[in-house]
Amino acid sequence: MRRSHLDLFAPNCPVCKHLFNRNSSLQLVHIFESDQDHVIEGSLHCSDINCQSEFPIIDGIPILVPNLREFIAGSASVILSRQDLSESTVSLIGDCCGNNSSMGTTRQHLSSYAFDHYQDFKAGDPNVPVTSSIVDLLEKGLEDLAPLPAGPILDVGCSVGRTSFELAQRFRTPVLGIDLNFSMLRCAHQILRERKIDYDLRRVGGVYDRISHPVQFENSELVDFWICDAMALPFGEGISPFVNCLNVLDCVSSPLNLLISIARVMQFGGSILLSSPYDWSPSATPVEAWIGGHSQRSVNQGRSEAQLDQVLSTIGNLLNCKLTVQQQTNSNWRVRLHERCSVDYDCHLLSIQKQTAQRMECLGEMNVQL
Ligand SMILES: C[S@@+](CC[C@H](N)C(=O)[O-])C[C@H]1O[C@@H](n2cnc3c(N)ncnc32)[C@H](O)[C@@H]1O
Ligand SMILES: [Zn+2]
Repeated sequence: MRRSHLDLFAPNCPVCKHLFNRNSSLQLVHIFESDQDHVIEGSLHCSDINCQSEFPIIDGIPILVPNLREFIAGSASVILSRQDLSESTVSLIGDCCGNNSSMGTTRQHLSSYAFDHYQDFKAGDPNVPVTSSIVDLLEKGLEDLAPLPAGPILDVGCSVGRTSFELAQRFRTPVLGIDLNFSMLRCAHQILRERKIDYDLRRVGGVYDRISHPVQFENSELVDFWICDAMALPFGEGISPFVNCLNVLDCVSSPLNLLISIARVMQFGGSILLSSPYDWSPSATPVEAWIGGHSQRSVNQGRSEAQLDQVLSTIGNLLNCKLTVQQQTNSNWRVRLHERCSVDYDCHLLSIQKQTAQRMECLGEMNVQL
C-alpha cells in the first residue's frame, strides 16, 4: 500500500460504513515491513473508539472489506500459498489437487487474465497474437470520452492490473486498482514492484507452463492495488472524476449496488467507463438481481441494454444526479481458457456521465427553446 495513495484516497472504515453508514477514517497503526513509499506488511485501524476494526496489509495489499473474517477465511490458502516452488513441484501439486480444487480455480483465473493482460510483453513467440483484448476494449472506450475533470482514477475489478497501468500511463494521474481476488492483485503488485510477471499458463487439462517476462509501464509510481468490495467502496463521495469498470457488472451479487457504489464516489462532470457481455449466471448473481436476461414478456423484453438505462435513471433519482449515457458501442473481449479454447465476448461498452439533476433541467429547457 502506497502511503501516497492512502493519503489521497483517504479510505473510510468499511465496517462503520456498512453497519452504521458512518464515515470513520482509517489510521496506519502497524508497519512490520516497508519499502520506500510501500507498506508491505502492517495494519490499518478504524479511528472510531466504538469500532476499532483492524485491516491487514499483506504483500503490499491492504484488505479493506466489511466482512474481513469471512474474506480472510475464504482466501487463506491463497494468502498463505508459497511463491517460491519450482514449476515442476507446483505441477505435481496441481495434478494431485485437480482442476476443481481452489488451487485449480486460482491457476485457471490467473492463466486467463495474466495472458490477456500481458501477453503482448512476451517477446519472441510467433504463436501468440501480440494484442491484449482488454487494452483494445479500454482504448475503444476512451476514444470519444468527454474531457475529464482532474483527479485520481478508480479501476474497479482490475484483476491483474493492466488497465490501471494503462490509465496511469495515459492520464498521468494516481490510479487505484481494486479487486476482491488476492492472487490477481498479488500478480499486479509483482509488476508494480518488480517490473516482471511470473504465472502458469494453462496448456491442456491440468498441464501448465511457467511464464516469466518483464512488464514495464511509464508512471507506474502512480499506481496502487487494494482489496475492496466494489459494491461497498470505502471512499468519500465524489473522490474520483473517472471510474473504469470493465467486465465486472455480471460478476457481482448485486449489479445495482455496484453501480450505486460507483456513482456515489464519482465527481459531478466525471464519467464511468463500463463494459459487460451480460453473461448472467446464477452462480455469480441471483436471477432477481440480473439487469435484463429474464422476463421477456416485460416492456424491455429482457434486453439488458434497455434495462440498464432504466437502472441508471433510478440510481440518478436515488443519488439526486443524472447518469447520462454519452457513448455506446460493442467491442470484442477474449478470455483464453487453454491452448485450444478461448471465449469470445461481444461486450456492450458505454461511457456514462454524472451530471447534476439541475444541469439536466437547464439543458432540457435549452432544447425546447431550440
Ligand atoms: C471478469 S473479471 C474482469 C477483469 C478485468 N476487468 C478484465 O476485464 O480483464 C471480473 C473481475 O471483477 C472482480 N470482482 C468480482 N466481484 C468483485 C467485487 N465485489 N469487488 C471488486 N472486484 C470484484 C473479480 O475478482 C475479477 O477480477
Ligand atoms: Zn469502524
